[in-house]
Amino acid sequence: MTEVAEPGAVVRPAKPATKPARPFFSSGPCAKPPGWNPTLLSERALGRSHRGSVGKKLLAEAIDRTHALLELPADYKLGIVPASDTGAMEMAIWSLLGTRPVTILAWESFGAGWVTDVAKQLKLNADIRTADYGEIADLSGIDPARDVVFTWNGTTSGVRVPDADWIAADRTGLSICDATSAAFAQDIDWAKIDVGTFSWQKALGGEAAHGMIVLSPRAIERLEREPAARPLPKIFRLTKGGKLIDGIFRGETINTPSMLCVEDWLLALEWAEKAGGLSGLIARADANAAALDEWVQRSAWIDHLAGDPAIRSNTSVCLQFADRADEEGNRVRQKSLGQLLEREDAAYDVTAYRDAPPGLRIWCGATVDTTDIQALGPWLDWAWEATA
Ligand SMILES: Cc1ncc(COP(=O)(O)O)c(C=O)c1O
Repeated sequence: MTEVAEPGAVVRPAKPATKPARPFFSSGPCAKPPGWNPTLLSERALGRSHRGSVGKKLLAEAIDRTHALLELPADYKLGIVPASDTGAMEMAIWSLLGTRPVTILAWESFGAGWVTDVAKQLKLNADIRTADYGEIADLSGIDPARDVVFTWNGTTSGVRVPDADWIAADRTGLSICDATSAAFAQDIDWAKIDVGTFSWQKALGGEAAHGMIVLSPRAIERLEREPAARPLPKIFRLTKGGKLIDGIFRGETINTPSMLCVEDWLLALEWAEKAGGLSGLIARADANAAALDEWVQRSAWIDHLAGDPAIRSNTSVCLQFADRADEEGNRVRQKSLGQLLEREDAAYDVTAYRDAPPGLRIWCGATVDTTDIQALGPWLDWAWEATA
């Protein structure tokens, strides 16, 4: 719908009548599951020890149900660790890397952060492969004898690996994967992953501060037989006396978790199981990304940041302004656009990541409803014109 304009006047779209019912499009923390409400959280474990019978049972349940939902191979272990996805990745990097040559791949800010860890903090002589925002690093010829570190879905560029075919099935190195914005939304080939990490605050809309780490039998073997020769703070330690601390994978966490967050995670799992399990979650994210893409194809002022659909995310969809002549001006416009949408309660947290090219980033993970993505498009068009 457009307003009637005087001849020669700029025709601006009218303010849309319908707002997204849940204007939550942040790429982390992500939208809570549909129907979520704090009164649904059980108080049974609150004010009680996480090492007591109730606490331990709930922690173990959180692990077991997550393991099942992700369809992890039966011989893979899954544990709850401190400090969210960052904690889980640091734990893997600092516990494992250094005994073999390393290849590290990065195509956006979070991947670049792991490069800093490996190259600048640990000072390992790594083969570093990078790509600009919107592109992916060269995945060809990865030496299977080297350890490889990568991010499955780059949250700040909206670029994901197309598959894991480039990781050799008969590798002797380990593959360490930051999967935080891919897990529960993309088809991760776990047989090709030795260490996977994610946090509760992403695709199932859980709370921040808790991470999960997935270990393959080969990763466990490496931890026990060939650990990195460096001292580690308690918070990163996965082994004791040369053996895996098995309790971590049964819910005996390294330090105290929030049982309220655990309850929240169990609620998210329940929603996810009812939403059709992993394939249902992936289908929801795909439908959201497709609905957003329909709008992108119709709107002349916006483009995908990831030009190639084969590497384009279905969770953190990143968009850039079509006219890129004035980057500073675009940053200013991005800011006003975000503020206007927020003031209107039409969309929260949709501006591009601070280091990424100016534009928008719209979370399309499973906890977002497709009808809200469809309602969002006209608001974005309206806000674009209103901030001209
Ligand atoms: C790919 C990726 N890695 C790491 C992180 C850091 O996650 P957390 O804040 O849960 O530690 C994020 C957060 O957005 C992310 O998207």
